[in-house]
Amino acid sequence: MLRSISSLDDLSGKRVILRCDFNVPLDSGEIVDDGRIRAALPTIRHLIDSGARVIACSHLGRPDGEVKPEYSLAPVAQRLEELLGQPVIFASDTIGSQAKAASKVLEDGGVALLENLRFSPLETSKDSAERAEFAKQLSELGDVLVSDGFGVVHRKQASVYELAELLPSYAGLLVEREVEVLQSLTANPQRPYAVVLGGSKVSDKLAVIENLLPRVDKLLVGGGMVFTLLAAKGHDVASSLLEADQIDTVKGFFAQAESLGVEIVLPSDIVVASGFSKDAEHEVVAADQIASSKFGSAGIGLDIGPESAKVFASVIAASKTVFWNGPMGVFEFENFSHGTRAVAQALTAMDGLSVVGGGDSASAVRALGFSEEAFGHISTGGGASLEYLEGKALPGLEVLDD
Ligand code: 3PG
Repeated sequence: MLRSISSLDDLSGKRVILRCDFNVPLDSGEIVDDGRIRAALPTIRHLIDSGARVIACSHLGRPDGEVKPEYSLAPVAQRLEELLGQPVIFASDTIGSQAKAASKVLEDGGVALLENLRFSPLETSKDSAERAEFAKQLSELGDVLVSDGFGVVHRKQASVYELAELLPSYAGLLVEREVEVLQSLTANPQRPYAVVLGGSKVSDKLAVIENLLPRVDKLLVGGGMVFTLLAAKGHDVASSLLEADQIDTVKGFFAQAESLGVEIVLPSDIVVASGFSKDAEHEVVAADQIASSKFGSAGIGLDIGPESAKVFASVIAASKTVFWNGPMGVFEFENFSHGTRAVAQALTAMDGLSVVGGGDSASAVRALGFSEEAFGHISTGGGASLEYLEGKALPGLEVLDD
């Protein structure tokens, strides 16, 4: 059982360090998708209403331990201020004079945000003593840690792990909700249970496929990773994304699925393009005929085709539990967004629990204009939700566990 924020009764006047995952996509300093900031609001509001002094902190991107202005959390502070409707003090450092001053001047119900934790190499250091040193300095800013950055609980990093060992630490409302939903998927999903996987790299998903095959009824695969599966079936995928070194592993999955009676559903048609661009010329061909498209060996598969989208949607409609991770195609380009849209649409219409896992699929549903309320749950964790489903122990959760 995770120690819960709800068991903290007297927060008034307490300085609460709130570890969030504000790792939001930015484009020239503008926040493209603020889903992760909005997902943190219930915990922040709970803390404000309890009279706590909130010192929020997060990483953003991978600045590799250097101060890189393009990874500053300043735009997040501004957005948080708008969403909360109250001032947010932005400290332009993490353990320096600004952070210390912010922690001192905060009043009950006040909120501050520290600069990107990963501007320090100690946050992500491989050396646990270095991480402990950074955590020690962070801990001096607060009395209690509330850990609510679900997207980063799979990382053994100073603010996620060592800090939680130093201060009384509790799971925030977001972490609790995420764990509750993912637990229901691993423990006792209502059947039929289908998992839809997409995204670019099959190698990122190997462990989750292995862990899920014995648990699911159907596994649907699209996105860039599907071409390695099609190649493992013996099809020529022309210039589509291919991880040739994974073909043997994938063949093993096909054999495992067959012996378990699990159906791996692959697309029957593919949208093949002349190149990787939004206006690329394209045509729909059968999934085993990619190399025979009019672009020949230069053809690149950028989306599942309309027939496949229909089949995927009907499998989803017939399921009682669906977990979806990874777009079906290059949804950022309108011409190649239809497969992703069809899957998202089917999830909103299904009768049962639909879970969207992962940074990219979560961004996709918002970018394509779906209402978040139409889904059972949209996870804020990409890697974290996958690793949870892989059955791995997540350091940031273990450390909150009694
Ligand atoms: C994510 O986007 O998955 C989380 O914020 C973790 O980021 P990371 O993969 O850079 O650790």
